Amino acid sequence: MTEQAKPAVADSRQLSELYRMASVGRLTAKVVHEINTPIGSIRSNNEVLGRWLDTLSKLLADSIEKGTAPPAKAVDILDTLKSLAAVDKLACDRISSVIRGLKTFVRVNEGQLGRMDLNDLLRDTLKLAGCEYRRRISLVEDYGEIPEVECFPQLMSQVFLNLLVNAGQAIENEGTVTVKTSVEDACVHVAITDTGKGIAPEHRARIFSPGFTTKPVGEGTGLGLAITREIVVDTHLGTIDFDSVPGQGTTFHVRIPIEHPRSISKQS
Ligand SMILES: Nc1ncnc2c1ncn2[C@@H]1O[C@H](COP(=O)(O)OP(=O)(O)OP(=O)(O)O)[C@@H](O)[C@H]1O
Ligand SMILES: [Mg+2]
Repeated sequence: MTEQAKPAVADSRQLSELYRMASVGRLTAKVVHEINTPIGSIRSNNEVLGRWLDTLSKLLADSIEKGTAPPAKAVDILDTLKSLAAVDKLACDRISSVIRGLKTFVRVNEGQLGRMDLNDLLRDTLKLAGCEYRRRISLVEDYGEIPEVECFPQLMSQVFLNLLVNAGQAIENEGTVTVKTSVEDACVHVAITDTGKGIAPEHRARIFSPGFTTKPVGEGTGLGLAITREIVVDTHLGTIDFDSVPGQGTTFHVRIPIEHPRSISKQS
């Protein structure tokens, strides 16, 4: 009996997985960079906290010994300690949110078809893309009232990450990325707009082709939009298109049916 020959090239699912792993690698480096700042701030606050706590205990021990009220300096120190603790809390929140974004993205496979609030998914994914943006890009989040959508959340998070990273990379210096959601007929519409360099007319027809990239060798694989299109159109039976004005910016429109059409056909 002959075994059927295995295809020599990776199928689209394997390709998508390889691309995801490569993206995780690139993102991890950025995430590490991003969480180093809040960790540095917690560490240095901690040293200051230790010193002030020593001073505070001495001041309080003195006043107990003398039977007097705690000196004003002790009260000042308490205020300083409180504000340092508040800064530490912010730093910890920042770290947790970046890690949460990474966790959503790293899950191994496409997961289950389930109901998901795309606003929540975008918020989580933006925490990751934020590592790419740093302080260069300002973000406008315009979330509409939308129902939960029947989708594969991990795959949709990959779609948003690809579009958000592309938007960030299209902006050379400073600019704005706007994320807007709304309901449109039986779909949720997600629009991601950047004020970047735009898509040249001669590239418009090719940007969803696997391997098409205008980025330097080693920076872009040209697979991001091909995989994005596959997840939106083939897996979710949605649509993706874009408007772009060279020199002014680009908007990608993703429309995902609120009910996954395959599960509707199963029910009927
Ligand atoms: N928001 C955008 N603004 C301008 N050009 C874009 C935008 N999004 C995509 N493009 C163009 O489409 C090309 C293909 O995008 P795609 O995401 O598939 O690959 P890539 O970003 O080049 O590489 P990778 O995603 O693997 O890092 C990009 O190289 C760029 O020329
Ligand atoms: Mg890309």
